[in-house]
Amino acid sequence: MPNNDRRLIEDLIPIREISAEASREKSLRHGNISTLHLWWARRPIVAARAAVYGALVPAPTDAKERETYMARMRKLCSWDIPNGVLEQARKDILEANGGKPPRVLDMFAGGGSIPLEALRLGCESYAVELNPVAQEIWLFPRGRREEVGRMGHRTR
Ligand SMILES: C[S@@+](CC[C@H](N)C(=O)[O-])C[C@H]1O[C@@H](n2cnc3c(N)ncnc32)[C@H](O)[C@@H]1O
Repeated sequence: MPNNDRRLIEDLIPIREISAEASREKSLRHGNISTLHLWWARRPIVAARAAVYGALVPAPTDAKERETYMARMRKLCSWDIPNGVLEQARKDILEANGGKPPRVLDMFAGGGSIPLEALRLGCESYAVELNPVAQEIWLFPRGRREEVGRMGHRTR
């Protein structure tokens, strides 16, 4: 990270695209693990992904880099992440963290969107949640880790 430690999230976030994807995600009724049980406070995963990525990579240093990051963010924040985009995002995060996967902790994990997306982005991910229902329905379903590890995207 550069000395001033300014992060991407402080410079750009494609709000319009994230909002559009988030409302599509919220209207899913079947075909995704999140529909097993409603968890009211669960944040949309595309928003969580943007927040985790944006918080872990440095802010662009010039207009060209800014454009590159904007294009990358837009693709990263779509439900069906195009091939190669997730791998690039993981690489960016590793590079920004001296080659070591950063540790991400959500101390109020709720439906688990932040730890899930941190895991998908190659981080060492930790979650704390008081309510056992939230833990059961989202954080610990069998195969969840494997699903995230295997795929950059899911089918609906
Ligand atoms: C707003 S929700 C979390 C949303 C989540 N971070 C996300 O991005 O989707 C807050 C969660 O904090 C949990 N919580 C409240 N007090 C807690 C505590 N002392 N320790 C751990 N979890 C707690 C609640 O059960 C609730 O699920």
